[in-house]
Amino acid sequence: MNRERPSSDTLPDQRARENADSPRRLVLRRPDDFHVHLRDGLMLNALVNATARQFGRAIVMPNLDPPVTTAAGAEAYRSRILAALGEQDDFKPLMTVYLTDNTKTPDLEAGFKAGVLTAAKFYPAHATTNSALGVTDLRNLYGVFNAMERLKMPLLVHGEVSDPDVDVFDREKAFIDRYLAKLVNAFPALKIVLEHITTEEAVDFVVAAGPNVGATITPHHLSINRNSMFHGGLRPHFYCLPILKREHHRLALRRAATSGNPKFFLGTDSAPHDISTKQNGCACAGIFNADVAMQVYAQVFEEEASLDRLETFAAEHGARFYGLPLNQGRIALEKTGSIVSAEFPAGKSRIVPFKAGSAISWSFVGKVADEHHS
Ligand code: NCD
Ligand code: ZN
Repeated sequence: MNRERPSSDTLPDQRARENADSPRRLVLRRPDDFHVHLRDGLMLNALVNATARQFGRAIVMPNLDPPVTTAAGAEAYRSRILAALGEQDDFKPLMTVYLTDNTKTPDLEAGFKAGVLTAAKFYPAHATTNSALGVTDLRNLYGVFNAMERLKMPLLVHGEVSDPDVDVFDREKAFIDRYLAKLVNAFPALKIVLEHITTEEAVDFVVAAGPNVGATITPHHLSINRNSMFHGGLRPHFYCLPILKREHHRLALRRAATSGNPKFFLGTDSAPHDISTKQNGCACAGIFNADVAMQVYAQVFEEEASLDRLETFAAEHGARFYGLPLNQGRIALEKTGSIVSAEFPAGKSRIVPFKAGSAISWSFVGKVADEHHS
């Protein structure tokens, strides 16, 4: 095993496409993160500002242990997030509820109408971290989906089958073929976000569907492919779900993200796990990228000669899809290289962040007045 070199998470083609003409400073409308795991307790307290520093709002995943399954549970979780925020108190967590076979439509409807809930999350049972209580049969939720369609409440989908007979790299495509196509046909006006897409098939599905179907794309699926998990040895910090795929899928995601198509928007899927559960005989899935999110997206868009499209991807498409007002503030990024720290302290935990020990070309400056808004 090669231990001298840090992991290769910059592909040669990316290095070659560094654009000498691109600006040194970017000022953008403050972006939103449409998919993040903020966790709870000490980890929440220690990490929430990493997200709040960069983003104006975030769709907060409900997969706590036990999961957030009711509007009252979401309201209590929101209070804990707000209490953890401290100085970054202009950040707005947008709450979700975790659908189960027993979800009660009136609770969902009341929570949405009261502004407590923004969306509901569908995890197939056992598909990912803390999803044991997920849905066993989509048909159990058809009454709930009916109400969500009427309310224009977005359904957020973890689009992977959990069938152990399906190859782990094929689970997103299998979910689309077996379930998603039927769901979209059965509820043609339901707002659906296919979360953290990883395949060319998912891109094609979303492009072909109506304007009510969108998708989030993570920084890691845009910047690395499945080789990174095995570079010189087994690299648990690159293990996430849906799992990283082949290079041609990564290229399809990059085309989608930088295409200007409003169906594609930012969702980091930042998912911290303590180092002891990542560097483990049975490593947890999840990549913590909150602290480097906008820097990595900027690098990807720059490599694709599409920096002019970063703002709409990061700060407009998602808000429009959800029917939210655009953020008013601005943030700045600068083209100053830095090395990402090897570890991130988080209460009693230590987290190895995405790009740990690697060079990144952009730095996050912070919130700025409306200077040279591009
Ligand atoms: C997420 C987590 O750790 O909560 N893990 C991941 O690999 N993305 C769950 C999820 O979003 O699938
Ligand atoms: Zn996630």
